[in-house]
Amino acid sequence: MDKIVIYGGKKLNGEVKISGAKNSALPILFATLLTDDKCKIKNVPILADIRTTVDFLNFIGKKTVRKGNVVNCDESSKLNHIAPYDLVRKMRASVLVMGPLLARLGKVDVSLPGGCSIGARPIDIHLDAFKKMGATIELKEGYIKIFSKGRLSGADIEFRFASVGATENVLLASVLAKGTTRIINAAKEPEIQDLADVLVKMGAKISGAGTRIITIEGVDKLHGFEHDVIPDRIEAATYMIAALMTKGEIKLTKVNPKHLELVIEKLIEAGADIKIKDDTLTVKWKKEIKPINIKTEVYPGFPTDIQAQWMALMALAKGNSIIEETVFENRFLHVCELQRLGANLKIEGRQVSIHGVKELSGAPVMVSDLRAGAALVLAGLCAKGKTEISRIYHLDRGYEALEKKFRKLGANIKRIK
Ligand code: UD1
Repeated sequence: MDKIVIYGGKKLNGEVKISGAKNSALPILFATLLTDDKCKIKNVPILADIRTTVDFLNFIGKKTVRKGNVVNCDESSKLNHIAPYDLVRKMRASVLVMGPLLARLGKVDVSLPGGCSIGARPIDIHLDAFKKMGATIELKEGYIKIFSKGRLSGADIEFRFASVGATENVLLASVLAKGTTRIINAAKEPEIQDLADVLVKMGAKISGAGTRIITIEGVDKLHGFEHDVIPDRIEAATYMIAALMTKGEIKLTKVNPKHLELVIEKLIEAGADIKIKDDTLTVKWKKEIKPINIKTEVYPGFPTDIQAQWMALMALAKGNSIIEETVFENRFLHVCELQRLGANLKIEGRQVSIHGVKELSGAPVMVSDLRAGAALVLAGLCAKGKTEISRIYHLDRGYEALEKKFRKLGANIKRIK
Protein backbone atom coordinates (compact mmCIF):
# COMPACT_ATOMS: atom_id res chain seq x y z
CA MET A 1 0.00 0.00 0.00
CA ASP A 2 1.19 3.54 -0.79
CA LYS A 3 2.62 5.75 1.94
CA ILE A 4 3.44 9.45 2.22
CA VAL A 5 6.84 10.39 3.56
CA ILE A 6 7.46 13.93 4.79
CA TYR A 7 10.65 15.54 6.06
CA GLY A 8 9.18 18.42 8.04
CA GLY A 9 10.38 21.87 8.90
CA LYS A 10 10.18 23.65 5.54
CA LYS A 11 8.39 27.01 5.38
CA LEU A 12 5.66 26.78 2.75
CA ASN A 13 5.52 29.70 0.33
CA GLY A 14 3.85 30.27 -3.03
CA GLU A 15 0.56 29.83 -4.80
CA VAL A 16 -1.91 26.95 -4.78
CA LYS A 17 -5.03 26.55 -6.91
CA ILE A 18 -7.99 25.20 -4.96
CA SER A 19 -9.91 22.34 -6.61
CA GLY A 20 -13.65 21.92 -7.03
CA ALA A 21 -15.53 20.76 -3.94
CA LYS A 22 -15.87 16.99 -3.60
CA ASN A 23 -18.98 17.40 -1.46
CA SER A 24 -20.63 19.48 -4.18
CA ALA A 25 -19.53 17.36 -7.13
CA LEU A 26 -20.94 14.14 -5.61
CA PRO A 27 -24.62 15.19 -5.25
CA ILE A 28 -24.44 17.01 -8.60
CA LEU A 29 -23.26 13.81 -10.28
CA PHE A 30 -26.22 11.97 -8.76
CA ALA A 31 -28.56 14.74 -10.01
CA THR A 32 -27.76 13.69 -13.59
CA LEU A 33 -29.97 10.63 -12.96
CA LEU A 34 -32.97 12.98 -12.95
CA THR A 35 -32.82 13.50 -16.72
CA ASP A 36 -32.13 11.54 -19.91
CA ASP A 37 -30.46 14.61 -21.45
CA LYS A 38 -26.75 15.27 -21.69
CA CYS A 39 -25.07 16.96 -18.70
CA LYS A 40 -21.62 18.53 -18.41
CA ILE A 41 -19.98 19.16 -15.03
CA LYS A 42 -16.75 21.18 -14.89
CA ASN A 43 -14.18 21.80 -12.14
CA VAL A 44 -14.71 18.26 -10.81
CA PRO A 45 -11.75 17.22 -8.61
CA ILE A 46 -9.88 14.06 -9.64
CA LEU A 47 -10.45 11.87 -6.58
CA ALA A 48 -11.21 8.28 -5.65
CA ASP A 49 -14.79 9.19 -4.57
CA ILE A 50 -15.45 10.77 -7.97
CA ARG A 51 -14.16 7.64 -9.74
CA THR A 52 -16.46 5.52 -7.55
CA THR A 53 -19.44 7.75 -8.42
CA VAL A 54 -18.69 7.65 -12.16
CA ASP A 55 -18.55 3.82 -11.97
CA PHE A 56 -21.76 3.88 -9.97
CA LEU A 57 -23.62 6.02 -12.54
CA ASN A 58 -22.44 3.73 -15.37
CA PHE A 59 -23.64 0.70 -13.40
CA ILE A 60 -27.06 2.33 -12.88
CA GLY A 61 -27.31 3.00 -16.63
CA LYS A 62 -26.12 6.58 -17.10
CA LYS A 63 -23.28 6.67 -19.64
CA THR A 64 -20.71 8.81 -17.78
CA VAL A 65 -17.15 9.69 -18.79
CA ARG A 66 -14.58 11.75 -16.87
CA LYS A 67 -11.83 13.51 -18.81
CA GLY A 68 -9.53 15.58 -16.61
CA ASN A 69 -11.72 17.81 -14.48
CA VAL A 70 -14.79 17.50 -16.71
CA VAL A 71 -17.50 14.86 -16.43
CA ASN A 72 -19.89 14.30 -19.32
CA CYS A 73 -23.09 12.31 -18.91
CA ASP A 74 -24.81 11.07 -22.03
CA GLU A 75 -28.35 9.84 -22.51
CA SER A 76 -29.34 7.08 -20.08
CA SER A 77 -30.12 3.53 -21.06
CA LYS A 78 -32.83 1.84 -18.97
CA LEU A 79 -31.99 2.78 -15.37
CA ASN A 80 -31.26 0.01 -12.88
CA HIS A 81 -32.87 0.48 -9.43
CA ILE A 82 -30.41 -1.61 -7.40
CA ALA A 83 -27.32 -0.14 -5.71
CA PRO A 84 -25.23 -3.12 -4.57
CA TYR A 85 -23.05 -3.44 -1.47
CA ASP A 86 -19.80 -3.37 -3.47
CA LEU A 87 -20.51 0.19 -4.60
CA VAL A 88 -22.20 1.54 -1.45
CA ARG A 89 -19.53 0.27 0.98
CA LYS A 90 -16.81 2.23 -0.88
CA MET A 91 -18.47 5.56 -0.23
CA ARG A 92 -21.25 6.64 2.13
CA ALA A 93 -22.40 9.39 -0.25
CA SER A 94 -23.75 6.53 -2.42
CA VAL A 95 -26.99 6.87 -0.43
CA LEU A 96 -27.62 9.98 -2.58
CA VAL A 97 -28.74 7.60 -5.31
CA MET A 98 -31.99 7.09 -3.35
CA GLY A 99 -33.61 10.47 -4.07
CA PRO A 100 -33.14 10.56 -7.86
CA LEU A 101 -34.00 6.87 -8.48
CA LEU A 102 -37.10 7.08 -6.31
CA ALA A 103 -38.17 10.17 -8.26
CA ARG A 104 -37.48 8.61 -11.67
CA LEU A 105 -38.43 4.94 -11.16
CA GLY A 106 -40.63 4.94 -8.07
CA LYS A 107 -38.32 2.34 -6.53
CA VAL A 108 -34.77 1.89 -5.32
CA ASP A 109 -32.90 -0.86 -3.46
CA VAL A 110 -29.79 0.35 -1.66
CA SER A 111 -27.47 -1.82 0.33
CA LEU A 112 -27.35 -0.63 3.96
CA PRO A 113 -24.30 1.66 4.21
CA GLY A 114 -23.29 0.60 7.75
CA GLY A 115 -21.23 2.73 10.12
CA CYS A 116 -17.80 4.14 9.48
CA SER A 117 -14.81 5.08 11.59
CA ILE A 118 -16.22 8.49 12.56
CA GLY A 119 -19.53 7.17 13.88
CA ALA A 120 -22.68 5.15 13.26
CA ARG A 121 -23.96 7.66 10.68
CA PRO A 122 -27.57 6.47 10.43
CA ILE A 123 -29.87 7.53 7.56
CA ASP A 124 -33.15 7.69 9.50
CA ILE A 125 -33.71 11.36 8.58
CA HIS A 126 -33.53 10.50 4.85
CA LEU A 127 -35.91 7.55 5.24
CA ASP A 128 -38.45 9.40 7.44
CA ALA A 129 -38.62 12.11 4.77
CA PHE A 130 -39.28 9.61 1.95
CA LYS A 131 -42.05 8.04 4.10
CA LYS A 132 -43.65 11.48 4.52
CA MET A 133 -43.62 11.79 0.74
CA GLY A 134 -45.63 8.58 0.44
CA ALA A 135 -42.91 5.95 0.03
CA THR A 136 -42.92 2.53 1.69
CA ILE A 137 -39.69 1.24 3.19
CA GLU A 138 -38.65 -2.35 3.87
CA LEU A 139 -35.43 -3.79 5.19
CA LYS A 140 -34.55 -7.12 3.59
CA GLU A 141 -31.34 -9.10 3.18
CA GLY A 142 -29.10 -6.12 3.95
CA TYR A 143 -30.96 -3.86 1.54
CA ILE A 144 -33.24 -0.88 2.14
CA LYS A 145 -36.05 -1.26 -0.37
CA ILE A 146 -38.00 1.93 -1.01
CA PHE A 147 -40.94 2.18 -3.38
CA SER A 148 -43.88 4.44 -4.08
CA LYS A 149 -47.14 3.90 -5.93
CA GLY A 150 -46.91 6.51 -8.66
CA ARG A 151 -45.09 9.79 -8.11
CA LEU A 152 -43.93 10.88 -4.67
CA SER A 153 -46.12 13.56 -3.09
CA GLY A 154 -44.86 16.88 -1.80
CA ALA A 155 -44.97 17.24 2.01
CA ASP A 156 -43.84 19.41 4.91
CA ILE A 157 -40.77 17.69 6.32
CA GLU A 158 -39.12 18.88 9.51
CA PHE A 159 -35.65 17.45 10.18
CA ARG A 160 -34.65 16.72 13.80
CA PHE A 161 -31.10 17.67 12.72
CA ALA A 162 -29.97 19.76 9.72
CA SER A 163 -28.38 16.81 7.90
CA VAL A 164 -26.45 17.68 4.73
CA GLY A 165 -27.07 14.33 3.04
CA ALA A 166 -30.79 14.22 3.94
CA THR A 167 -31.32 17.77 2.63
CA GLU A 168 -29.65 16.74 -0.64
CA ASN A 169 -31.63 13.50 -0.93
CA VAL A 170 -34.97 15.24 -0.32
CA LEU A 171 -34.07 17.98 -2.83
CA LEU A 172 -33.23 15.29 -5.39
CA ALA A 173 -36.48 13.41 -4.75
CA SER A 174 -38.87 16.35 -4.44
CA VAL A 175 -38.02 18.20 -7.67
CA LEU A 176 -40.06 15.61 -9.62
CA ALA A 177 -42.73 15.01 -6.93
CA LYS A 178 -46.41 15.95 -7.14
CA GLY A 179 -47.05 19.27 -5.37
CA THR A 180 -44.99 21.32 -2.93
CA THR A 181 -42.36 20.07 -0.49
CA ARG A 182 -40.99 22.17 2.36
CA ILE A 183 -37.80 21.12 4.10
CA ILE A 184 -37.80 22.71 7.55
CA ASN A 185 -34.49 22.82 9.44
CA ALA A 186 -32.62 22.18 6.18
CA ALA A 187 -28.82 22.19 6.03
CA LYS A 188 -27.44 25.54 4.84
CA GLU A 189 -24.00 24.44 3.61
CA PRO A 190 -22.73 26.09 0.38
CA GLU A 191 -22.80 22.65 -1.26
CA ILE A 192 -26.61 22.60 -0.81
CA GLN A 193 -26.86 25.93 -2.62
CA ASP A 194 -24.66 24.57 -5.43
CA LEU A 195 -26.89 21.50 -5.86
CA ALA A 196 -30.01 23.71 -5.85
CA ASP A 197 -28.41 25.94 -8.51
CA VAL A 198 -27.90 22.87 -10.72
CA LEU A 199 -31.47 21.64 -10.16
CA VAL A 200 -32.83 25.09 -11.08
CA LYS A 201 -30.70 24.99 -14.27
CA MET A 202 -32.43 21.65 -14.98
CA GLY A 203 -35.85 23.30 -14.72
CA ALA A 204 -36.66 22.68 -11.03
CA LYS A 205 -38.60 25.23 -8.96
CA ILE A 206 -36.73 25.80 -5.69
CA SER A 207 -36.64 28.74 -3.31
CA GLY A 208 -34.86 29.26 -0.01
CA ALA A 209 -31.77 27.08 -0.64
CA GLY A 210 -29.06 28.20 1.78
CA THR A 211 -31.67 29.10 4.42
CA ARG A 212 -33.44 27.04 7.10
CA ILE A 213 -36.55 26.44 4.99
CA ILE A 214 -36.37 25.24 1.40
CA THR A 215 -39.51 25.12 -0.74
CA ILE A 216 -39.66 22.89 -3.81
CA GLU A 217 -42.53 22.83 -6.28
CA GLY A 218 -42.43 19.56 -8.19
CA VAL A 219 -42.26 19.64 -12.01
CA ASP A 220 -43.00 16.88 -14.59
CA LYS A 221 -39.66 16.74 -16.32
CA LEU A 222 -36.09 18.04 -15.98
CA HIS A 223 -33.50 18.68 -18.70
CA GLY A 224 -29.71 18.66 -19.13
CA PHE A 225 -27.30 21.26 -17.74
CA GLU A 226 -23.75 22.55 -17.72
CA HIS A 227 -22.21 23.61 -14.41
CA ASP A 228 -18.94 24.62 -12.73
CA VAL A 229 -18.53 23.08 -9.26
CA ILE A 230 -17.82 25.59 -6.42
CA PRO A 231 -14.33 25.66 -4.82
CA ASP A 232 -13.57 23.19 -2.04
CA ARG A 233 -13.70 25.19 1.21
CA ILE A 234 -12.26 22.30 3.24
CA GLU A 235 -9.23 21.92 0.98
CA ALA A 236 -8.79 25.71 1.11
CA ALA A 237 -8.88 25.75 4.93
CA THR A 238 -6.29 22.94 5.01
CA TYR A 239 -3.80 25.02 2.95
CA MET A 240 -4.54 28.12 5.05
CA ILE A 241 -3.67 26.20 8.20
CA ALA A 242 -0.53 24.84 6.49
CA ALA A 243 0.71 28.41 5.92
CA LEU A 244 0.36 29.21 9.60
CA MET A 245 1.81 25.95 10.92
CA THR A 246 4.92 26.16 8.72
CA LYS A 247 5.41 29.91 9.35
CA GLY A 248 5.04 30.58 5.64
CA GLU A 249 2.89 32.56 3.23
CA ILE A 250 0.46 30.89 0.83
CA LYS A 251 -1.74 32.50 -1.79
CA LEU A 252 -4.84 30.45 -2.55
CA THR A 253 -6.47 31.02 -5.93
CA LYS A 254 -9.94 30.00 -7.15
CA VAL A 255 -11.38 30.08 -3.65
CA ASN A 256 -14.67 31.51 -2.34
CA PRO A 257 -13.80 33.49 0.84
CA LYS A 258 -17.53 33.92 1.66
CA HIS A 259 -17.77 30.17 2.35
CA LEU A 260 -14.93 30.44 4.87
CA GLU A 261 -15.98 33.44 6.96
CA LEU A 262 -15.79 31.80 10.40
CA VAL A 263 -12.59 29.91 9.61
CA ILE A 264 -10.95 33.15 8.43
CA GLU A 265 -12.11 34.90 11.62
CA LYS A 266 -10.67 32.12 13.81
CA LEU A 267 -7.36 32.08 11.88
CA ILE A 268 -7.02 35.84 12.34
CA GLU A 269 -7.71 35.41 16.08
CA ALA A 270 -5.00 32.73 16.10
CA GLY A 271 -2.56 35.31 14.70
CA ALA A 272 -2.69 34.93 10.91
CA ASP A 273 -2.40 37.85 8.53
CA ILE A 274 -5.07 37.29 5.85
CA LYS A 275 -5.64 39.33 2.72
CA ILE A 276 -8.66 38.73 0.50
CA LYS A 277 -9.07 39.92 -3.09
CA ASP A 278 -11.95 38.54 -5.18
CA ASP A 279 -11.34 34.79 -5.43
CA THR A 280 -7.83 34.85 -3.98
CA LEU A 281 -6.80 34.70 -0.37
CA THR A 282 -3.29 35.13 1.06
CA VAL A 283 -2.43 33.72 4.46
CA LYS A 284 0.78 34.76 6.17
CA TRP A 285 2.32 33.71 9.45
CA LYS A 286 3.00 36.80 11.58
CA LYS A 287 3.72 35.73 15.11
CA GLU A 288 3.32 32.79 17.48
CA ILE A 289 0.01 30.91 17.23
CA LYS A 290 -2.55 31.90 19.88
CA PRO A 291 -4.74 29.20 21.47
CA ILE A 292 -8.31 29.52 20.14
CA ASN A 293 -11.22 27.31 21.19
CA ILE A 294 -13.62 26.01 18.56
CA LYS A 295 -16.88 24.07 18.60
CA THR A 296 -17.96 22.29 15.42
CA GLU A 297 -21.47 23.06 14.24
CA VAL A 298 -23.58 22.96 11.10
CA TYR A 299 -22.92 25.77 8.59
CA PRO A 300 -22.28 28.66 9.11
CA GLY A 301 -20.69 27.25 12.29
CA PHE A 302 -17.16 25.84 12.38
CA PRO A 303 -17.02 22.85 9.98
CA THR A 304 -16.49 19.40 11.48
CA ASP A 305 -14.40 18.66 8.38
CA ILE A 306 -11.78 21.18 9.62
CA GLN A 307 -11.76 20.02 13.25
CA ALA A 308 -8.82 17.61 12.89
CA GLN A 309 -6.68 20.16 11.00
CA TRP A 310 -7.49 22.80 13.66
CA MET A 311 -6.30 20.38 16.31
CA ALA A 312 -2.96 20.01 14.52
CA LEU A 313 -2.67 23.82 14.50
CA MET A 314 -3.60 24.21 18.17
CA ALA A 315 -1.06 21.52 19.10
CA LEU A 316 1.57 24.18 18.30
CA ALA A 317 -0.20 27.16 19.91
CA LYS A 318 1.27 29.03 22.87
CA GLY A 319 -1.12 27.95 25.61
CA ASN A 320 -4.21 25.80 26.16
CA SER A 321 -7.30 25.42 24.02
CA ILE A 322 -10.39 23.24 23.75
CA ILE A 323 -12.06 21.68 20.71
CA GLU A 324 -15.63 20.44 20.99
CA GLU A 325 -17.17 18.16 18.35
CA THR A 326 -20.96 18.34 18.18
CA VAL A 327 -21.69 16.93 14.69
CA PHE A 328 -20.19 13.42 14.82
CA GLU A 329 -20.02 11.27 17.93
CA ASN A 330 -16.63 9.66 17.32
CA ARG A 331 -14.45 12.02 15.39
CA PHE A 332 -11.29 12.06 17.51
CA LEU A 333 -9.44 9.11 15.98
CA HIS A 334 -6.61 11.43 14.95
CA VAL A 335 -5.86 12.26 18.62
CA CYS A 336 -3.72 9.15 19.24
CA GLU A 337 -1.79 9.63 16.02
CA LEU A 338 -1.14 13.33 16.70
CA GLN A 339 0.10 12.30 20.15
CA ARG A 340 2.61 10.02 18.43
CA LEU A 341 4.00 13.16 16.78
CA GLY A 342 4.37 14.84 20.17
CA ALA A 343 1.05 16.72 20.54
CA ASN A 344 -0.22 17.10 24.11
CA LEU A 345 -3.93 16.22 23.87
CA LYS A 346 -6.54 14.82 26.21
CA ILE A 347 -10.00 13.53 25.23
CA GLU A 348 -12.82 14.32 27.67
CA GLY A 349 -16.13 13.12 26.20
CA ARG A 350 -16.86 15.22 23.13
CA GLN A 351 -14.05 17.64 23.90
CA VAL A 352 -10.30 17.55 23.48
CA SER A 353 -8.11 19.78 25.60
CA ILE A 354 -4.87 20.81 24.00
CA HIS A 355 -1.75 22.01 25.68
CA GLY A 356 0.38 23.62 22.98
CA VAL A 357 3.96 22.36 22.57
CA LYS A 358 7.02 24.11 21.05
CA GLU A 359 7.58 21.52 18.35
CA LEU A 360 6.40 18.19 16.99
CA SER A 361 8.69 15.35 15.99
CA GLY A 362 8.31 12.94 13.08
CA ALA A 363 7.09 9.35 13.56
CA PRO A 364 5.24 6.63 11.65
CA VAL A 365 1.48 7.28 11.80
CA MET A 366 -1.71 5.85 10.33
CA VAL A 367 -4.71 7.59 8.77
CA SER A 368 -8.16 6.65 10.13
CA ASP A 369 -10.37 8.89 7.97
CA LEU A 370 -10.06 11.60 5.36
CA ARG A 371 -9.70 14.74 7.51
CA ALA A 372 -7.65 12.91 10.16
CA GLY A 373 -5.23 12.25 7.28
CA ALA A 374 -5.07 15.96 6.46
CA ALA A 375 -4.24 16.74 10.11
CA LEU A 376 -1.38 14.23 10.05
CA VAL A 377 0.04 15.71 6.84
CA LEU A 378 -0.09 19.21 8.41
CA ALA A 379 1.60 17.98 11.56
CA GLY A 380 4.21 16.09 9.51
CA LEU A 381 4.98 19.22 7.47
CA CYS A 382 6.22 21.05 10.54
CA ALA A 383 7.46 18.11 12.64
CA LYS A 384 11.19 17.67 13.08
CA GLY A 385 12.53 14.74 11.04
CA LYS A 386 10.70 12.05 9.11
CA THR A 387 6.97 11.34 9.27
CA GLU A 388 5.73 8.26 7.43
CA ILE A 389 1.96 8.19 6.88
CA SER A 390 0.22 4.94 5.97
CA ARG A 391 -3.35 4.12 4.85
CA ILE A 392 -3.33 7.20 2.64
CA TYR A 393 -6.19 5.86 0.47
CA HIS A 394 -8.39 7.93 2.81
CA LEU A 395 -6.56 11.09 1.66
CA ASP A 396 -6.98 10.11 -2.01
CA ARG A 397 -10.76 10.25 -1.44
CA GLY A 398 -10.69 14.00 -0.77
CA TYR A 399 -7.49 15.87 -1.70
CA GLU A 400 -6.65 16.34 -5.37
CA ALA A 401 -2.89 16.14 -6.14
CA LEU A 402 -2.01 16.59 -2.46
CA GLU A 403 1.74 15.84 -2.62
CA LYS A 404 2.12 17.76 -5.89
CA LYS A 405 0.47 20.86 -4.46
CA PHE A 406 2.49 20.76 -1.22
CA ARG A 407 5.73 20.08 -3.13
CA LYS A 408 5.09 23.15 -5.29
CA LEU A 409 4.85 25.17 -2.07
CA GLY A 410 8.27 23.92 -1.00
CA ALA A 411 7.45 20.87 1.14
CA ASN A 412 9.67 17.81 1.20
CA ILE A 413 6.87 15.29 0.66
CA LYS A 414 6.67 12.22 -1.53
CA ARG A 415 4.54 9.15 -2.10
CA ILE A 416 6.20 5.77 -1.94
CA LYS A 417 4.65 2.61 -3.38
C1 UD1 B 1 -21.68 15.52 4.83
C2 UD1 B 1 -20.29 15.61 4.23
C3 UD1 B 1 -19.24 15.37 5.32
C4 UD1 B 1 -19.45 16.33 6.49
C5 UD1 B 1 -20.90 16.26 6.99
C6 UD1 B 1 -21.20 17.30 8.06
C7 UD1 B 1 -20.62 14.85 1.96
C8 UD1 B 1 -20.40 13.80 0.94
N1 UD1 B 1 -20.16 14.61 3.19
O1 UD1 B 1 -21.83 14.19 5.31
O2 UD1 B 1 -17.94 15.60 4.74
O3 UD1 B 1 -18.59 15.96 7.55
O4 UD1 B 1 -21.80 16.48 5.89
O5 UD1 B 1 -20.92 18.56 7.61
O6 UD1 B 1 -21.17 15.91 1.68
N2 UD1 B 1 -27.38 11.82 10.98
C9 UD1 B 1 -28.38 11.05 11.55
N3 UD1 B 1 -29.37 10.56 10.73
C10 UD1 B 1 -29.42 10.82 9.39
C11 UD1 B 1 -28.41 11.62 8.82
C12 UD1 B 1 -27.40 12.11 9.64
O7 UD1 B 1 -28.37 10.79 12.75
O8 UD1 B 1 -30.36 10.37 8.72
C13 UD1 B 1 -26.28 12.33 11.82
C14 UD1 B 1 -24.92 11.70 11.43
O9 UD1 B 1 -24.74 10.46 12.06
C15 UD1 B 1 -23.93 12.74 11.89
C16 UD1 B 1 -24.70 14.06 11.66
O10 UD1 B 1 -26.08 13.70 11.58
O11 UD1 B 1 -23.65 12.59 13.25
C17 UD1 B 1 -24.26 14.81 10.41
O12 UD1 B 1 -24.56 14.06 9.27
P1 UD1 B 1 -24.88 14.70 7.85
O13 UD1 B 1 -25.04 16.17 7.95
O14 UD1 B 1 -25.98 13.90 7.24
O15 UD1 B 1 -23.51 14.41 7.08
P2 UD1 B 1 -23.30 13.65 5.71
O16 UD1 B 1 -24.27 14.12 4.69
O17 UD1 B 1 -23.15 12.18 5.95
